[in-house]
Amino acid sequence: MEERTAAPTAPVAEEVGQLYDRMTDIAADFLGDDARQGYNAHLGYWDTPDSELTYDEATDRLTDVMVERLRIGAGGRLLDVGCGVGAPAVRIARLTGASVTGISVSKEQIARAEALARETPFPDRLDFRVADAMELPFPDASFDAVMALESMCHMPDRVQVYREMRRVLRPGGRIVATDFHGRSASPSPDRLALQRTMGSTTVRIDDYPQLMRTSGLRFLELRDITDETLPKSFAFLAERADKLRFEFDDTEAACFYNPQSVIDVPALGYLLVVAQRPLDG
Ligand SMILES: C[S@@+](CC[C@H](N)C(=O)[O-])C[C@H]1O[C@@H](n2cnc3c(N)ncnc32)[C@H](O)[C@@H]1O
Repeated sequence: MEERTAAPTAPVAEEVGQLYDRMTDIAADFLGDDARQGYNAHLGYWDTPDSELTYDEATDRLTDVMVERLRIGAGGRLLDVGCGVGAPAVRIARLTGASVTGISVSKEQIARAEALARETPFPDRLDFRVADAMELPFPDASFDAVMALESMCHMPDRVQVYREMRRVLRPGGRIVATDFHGRSASPSPDRLALQRTMGSTTVRIDDYPQLMRTSGLRFLELRDITDETLPKSFAFLAERADKLRFEFDDTEAACFYNPQSVIDVPALGYLLVVAQRPLDG
C-alpha cells in the first residue's frame, strides 16, 4: 500500500525528532521575527485560484479547514498528533473552546509550544508533550476528536498510528488528517530524495479508504487538495528564499523551506481525509 519500494528505511521517530529540533531554529530565521515563538509548520490553503490570502493567512485557513470537520466545541477534548510548535492547537483552542493536547517527537518544538501556551489566556486548556504517535500515552476513548496536520508522512507505519488514534478516540469521534500522496506511477528519483532527507513517505490516494478501514475506522471523506495547497505554498517559499537570499547549508533544510528547489513537485500530491470511530467499535 505505502510506496515503500525505494524508501531506504521507514522514518524513525527519534531521527524525525532530531530533524525537527534542528528545523525549528531554521524556521524561526526563515519565517522571521513573528515566527520566533509560534508559527504554523504546514502548508497554506487557498479555496480558489484567485484567493488573495497571504501565506500566513492561508496556513491558518488550512487549520480552519480541519476545524470545520472535527466537530468539537467548548468542553471537548482534542488530540493533535504531530503538533509542531503548537500554533494550530492554540488557534483551535481559541476558536472552539476545546481543550487541546498536542504531541511531537521534537523536544525543541514542545518547549516552544509550552511557552506559546503560557502566553495565552487559556493555558489550562493546552497540554503539550513529547510522545510518539506509534504508541500514544493516553487511555482508551480519552478524546472527542483527533487530528494529524501534515505529520502522517513521517510515521513509520500509518495503520499502526491510525489504530492508536482510533483507540484513544471515543466511539463516534472524528479523525481529520492531511497526508502527502504520490502522483506518478512509480516513485520518481526526486520524491525518493524527499523521502530520504525528510524521513517522509507518500501513499497512493486510492489506497486511503482501505487504509482507514484496515485501521478500524469508518471512512467519511477524502479530498485531493493538491491544487488548493502545493503550488502557491511552494511558490511562496521559493520566493521568500530568493528574497532573503537564504542560504540552505544542507539538503534537508532546502527540502523543508524551498521544496521546489529540490523535488519534482508535480509528482507530489496532498490530501485531506476524515474518518470516524464506529459507534459500536
Ligand atoms: C510538518 S510538521 C507539522 C506540525 C504541525 N501539525 C503544524 O501544522 O504546525 C510535522 C510534525 O510531526 C511530528 N511527528 C513526526 N513523527 C512523529 C511521531 N512518530 N510521533 C509524534 N509526532 C511526530 C513532528 O515532530 C512535527 O511536529
